[in-house]
Amino acid sequence: MFTPQPISADRHEAWRELAQQLGGMMAGERDPVANAANTAALIYWALPQVNWAGFYFLRGGELVLGPFHGRPACIRIALGKGVCGTAAAGARSVLVDDVHAFPGHIACDAASRSELVVPLLDGERLLGVLDLDSPVPGRFDAVDQAGAERLAALWVAASDA
Ligand code: SME
Repeated sequence: MFTPQPISADRHEAWRELAQQLGGMMAGERDPVANAANTAALIYWALPQVNWAGFYFLRGGELVLGPFHGRPACIRIALGKGVCGTAAAGARSVLVDDVHAFPGHIACDAASRSELVVPLLDGERLLGVLDLDSPVPGRFDAVDQAGAERLAALWVAASDA
């Protein structure tokens, strides 16, 4: 049974603690969906000002909704479309301070104002993306990007995806 731990107010430290907790949760478990579900729930419940946290998996050349926490979201996203599709097409993280200013942003929850999407990469192979949304403009920065990239790498390493 996993007992959630309170996380530090220091943001570097908070991401380090999340990585540690996630490592513990995925230990001995290789199922990608189970691990993604716990990753999304951990992020959603641990971090302040996050209204959506979840996965899109690359399936047949497009992104398909995976485990998440937050309001129901759009199911399929073409590569190159929206923030998620842009991150997937470039196999790189995309940080958007104001989604209203991002051309082609796909509004799943009208409350979302800023967004961070990091690719799920197994070497060169793109498996999908991890997407975080916030109702606060400019909520995510380079510290969050590095932290989310670390969790994404942990998920890839821990899962048979
Ligand atoms: N806003 C995203 C779509 C996914 S939802 O935010 C959950 C985008 O533009 O790709």
